[in-house]
Amino acid sequence: MNAYTIDDLKTLAQRRVPRMFFDYADSGSWTEATYRANEADFQKLLFRQRVAVDMTNRTLASTMIGEDVSMPVAIAPTGFGGMQHPDGEMLGAKVARAFGIPFTLSTMSICSIEDVSEAIGGAPFWFQLYVMRDRDFMHNLIDRAKAAGCSALVLTLDLQILGQRHKDLRNGLSAPPKINANTFWQLASRPRWCLSMLGTRRHTFRNIVGHAKSVADLSSLSSWTAEQFDPQLSWQDIAWIKERWGGKLILKGIMDAEDARLAAASGADALIVSNHGGRQLDGAPSSIAALPAIVEAVGEKIEVHMDGGIRSGQDVMRALSLGAKGVYIGRSWLYGVGAGGEAGVRTVLDIIRKELDLTMAFCGERDIRNVGRHNLVNPDVLKL
Ligand code: GLV
Repeated sequence: MNAYTIDDLKTLAQRRVPRMFFDYADSGSWTEATYRANEADFQKLLFRQRVAVDMTNRTLASTMIGEDVSMPVAIAPTGFGGMQHPDGEMLGAKVARAFGIPFTLSTMSICSIEDVSEAIGGAPFWFQLYVMRDRDFMHNLIDRAKAAGCSALVLTLDLQILGQRHKDLRNGLSAPPKINANTFWQLASRPRWCLSMLGTRRHTFRNIVGHAKSVADLSSLSSWTAEQFDPQLSWQDIAWIKERWGGKLILKGIMDAEDARLAAASGADALIVSNHGGRQLDGAPSSIAALPAIVEAVGEKIEVHMDGGIRSGQDVMRALSLGAKGVYIGRSWLYGVGAGGEAGVRTVLDIIRKELDLTMAFCGERDIRNVGRHNLVNPDVLKL
């Protein structure tokens, strides 16, 4: 594949994927200031280069929630993966498995829990859950994730209401796409994508349709969230979810040290410092800027992960330097799968692994687990 950077894959994806789905991945909410800050703030952190140190025998192997990972990078839960490319989530899970990193399936995926499980021969993956008003449906999802052998539940805490993404409204986003005057050209201009989609029967949210009561056609993410997501979510819900799930639990969407303390007290195994890729509270700080205070507050008590703005191995190294034990890639994997399906996701992971390995070496480290604030010239530059 002719791509050397995540940006190359983004460009390829934009050429191949109909606008409504490319823009879904590429959007932030409202002014997109937080989305931009997620990327831009990484550039402010400068590495401490070291020379004449032994660079042989390097390793990126680490653990996330006690699971061995070949590098501390997981695929983030994202909606509409199977609309970037047919069966996208099944392909992503296959590649992640071959790489030895976790794949997290979103509730709002196109391929179902069962589809993904079958695609990887029953191997474990992680499943992301929202808190919904229909508790029976939540039980159904938790039980299906258990039956599929998922090894972690990632509970999203920051999407009980939806931050408006203007592009999704303008583009008429839905899965399957509805054909009308607005969308016709978006689809007609991507004939290869349209043809390829005829090769799969997976065109809508298969975790939901046919499983949740009175959901026959779930074409719109915003109407589903407005009707179904529970704005009364509280820390008590986390207790019953943890109990019913009975396995490893990761809490996603923590941006504040006070919430991080509550997350640690809840008995979860990890938390993810995340502003949902700048897709929810526009005007919140970048995830990387929020990370250090959270590590300081709870880093000894609970594993701290982060997502938001990771577009290179250097960004992974920066997040690890500021104390994250693992990071997640959301848009990066969506660009990869949109650009070239399985080969595209492989290219994303290859690029990130190579960049991370060399960056670590330039910084004079041989073992990713030893990376820390000492690898940065200005670890406090983002201090809030
Ligand atoms: C769903 O989680 C989204 O951000 O669209």
